Amino acid sequence: MQPMVFQPIKDTRETAIFPFIRKIDLMSSNSYILSAQNQIALIDPGGLEDQSDLLIREIDLLQDENPRPTVVYLTHVHIDHWIQIHRMMASLPAKQTFVAAQKAGALALECGDCNLTLASLLGKSIKGVSVPIKLLSGAGPDHASFDRAWENRDFADRSAIDLNGWNYEYATDSIGILDGLVLQSQTISLGGGDTLEIFHTPGHSPDSISLRAGPLLFLGDLFFAPNPGTAGAYGWNRQDFMNSILKVIWVLENRPIDICFSGHGRAIDVQTAKKTLEVLYSDAATLENIEEITPQWAKRTSAFAQDLMNELERTFTIIAGRLVYVSHMLSTLEEDAEAKEIDRLLDMQVMDDLFSEFHAFAAQLRAGRRLDIELVHKAGQVVGKLDRIVQREKLSSFLDKSLLSRACRLLSDYAIIYRGYRPPYYVSYVNVNRLIRDILEQLLEKPYDEQAILDAESDEDYRRALSYRIAYVNLFDGIHFTCESGSDDIFARMDRERFSDTFADILERFAGGGAKEIKIAVARNDAWVTIRIAAKGEMQSHPLAQTARFMERSLALSGGLLEILCEEEGPALEIELSGLGEEWPS
Ligand SMILES: [Fe+2]
Ligand SMILES: [Fe+2]
Repeated sequence: MQPMVFQPIKDTRETAIFPFIRKIDLMSSNSYILSAQNQIALIDPGGLEDQSDLLIREIDLLQDENPRPTVVYLTHVHIDHWIQIHRMMASLPAKQTFVAAQKAGALALECGDCNLTLASLLGKSIKGVSVPIKLLSGAGPDHASFDRAWENRDFADRSAIDLNGWNYEYATDSIGILDGLVLQSQTISLGGGDTLEIFHTPGHSPDSISLRAGPLLFLGDLFFAPNPGTAGAYGWNRQDFMNSILKVIWVLENRPIDICFSGHGRAIDVQTAKKTLEVLYSDAATLENIEEITPQWAKRTSAFAQDLMNELERTFTIIAGRLVYVSHMLSTLEEDAEAKEIDRLLDMQVMDDLFSEFHAFAAQLRAGRRLDIELVHKAGQVVGKLDRIVQREKLSSFLDKSLLSRACRLLSDYAIIYRGYRPPYYVSYVNVNRLIRDILEQLLEKPYDEQAILDAESDEDYRRALSYRIAYVNLFDGIHFTCESGSDDIFARMDRERFSDTFADILERFAGGGAKEIKIAVARNDAWVTIRIAAKGEMQSHPLAQTARFMERSLALSGGLLEILCEEEGPALEIELSGLGEEWPS
């Protein structure tokens, strides 16, 4: 099927299709014009002016040849599918142009509902639209109508609708397709014996419909329903969506369909559509209790994405710097093969390009040319690509594990938040003094074994041990630590692993910022445990000044509250954790 030209639809008598297919984005959907004997059906006018103007021109030409009503069918009322409708209504003959949407969507459009249309999520304001044709409103969603339909196959609500003197017959039906699952459908005559069959397929939104013209099925945003940033949006319903997948599979198996057209992206054949739907069904099954995707969620996640991307860039720059150094040292030791292998471990050019792309996008957001939700999706793409580039296993044999695990945690945290979940929080009561001792021990201890280099049994073992040794950088060389532990048994509630990771990160930043002396003090105060870190040295600014929001969030995810302090003697901070009072341990 060719885009942007009219072509006859197979197995129909007189209906032709003009597919307007766009690259996938949030701003506008695909549009499809169906030219039939008694009606021009426009499925989704989309969200862009250019698109709308082109569609108006095509419809005008059709009207010149054969004047008849134009009906604008909305697969659902998300604004990317219809926001240009006012422009269209103003350009096409008013008495000949009608809007049709499923009843719930029609009501939302008429009262200018910013939630169901996702206008508020996409930062747009909308005007109400009159929707004279409320689709599927005669079909009962209840089991009683299903039972009647099942017992008596003649049951159907047959009627007709008059559009400016043109009469269209329609029939509404409820079809029992599986145990208790009812598919509501409506068939509307288009003239010349051709029809448009409409199915209620909610889930992505309560008003989502699919439309069939001959062997073509138009599925709106069904394929996008489980996507991050879409699943969980206002009106989304997981169970309805899973049921709709079963309904659409039934339609594919019980109607003569060849091609499925989506609200976004290219058309696909029936076999691919079925396979995709099966995958989406399993995807949706995992999406229990996801967060509601609101404008506030988008704003919060966008802010987090920007902080996270800065952290990722910083972490990967450190990792890349160490790899370059190891590779250079190995070359000077004439270990060229190993040096080349290390060069291939991380494609820093690709990474740089990804970060630059993201920063350019964030600058557009700050200039008001992008939306928070768009940045959230952009970060999702970048994180997905970084995740594929990072060769965790190979890298872990050259780098100290904490750096790599920090980078991987950042990637997985975003993937989880983007998906609509909160990152996992494994809570336990931890002996704070013992934990700090363990963290310091790990940070100050050399992670490599000189003896392993000397004892290596194979060339490969030797090169690995040598590379690991070269890659090690002792950030705390020459820094004096003092610890004041208060009493020995101070327990606090936290996610131990996350806390250790963030605590080590904080100490590394103090060391990197020029600290020569770091004092750590732990104190219990009623139900709170306070950890105070204070540093002295030649420090220009507070080591956490640029990253305060990110650090606060990281600590919050591990159960702590961060307060950054700038004191006369030097930079300091306090972390508060919920403690156990006096009763622990029994
Ligand atoms: Fe859409
Ligand atoms: Fe949508």
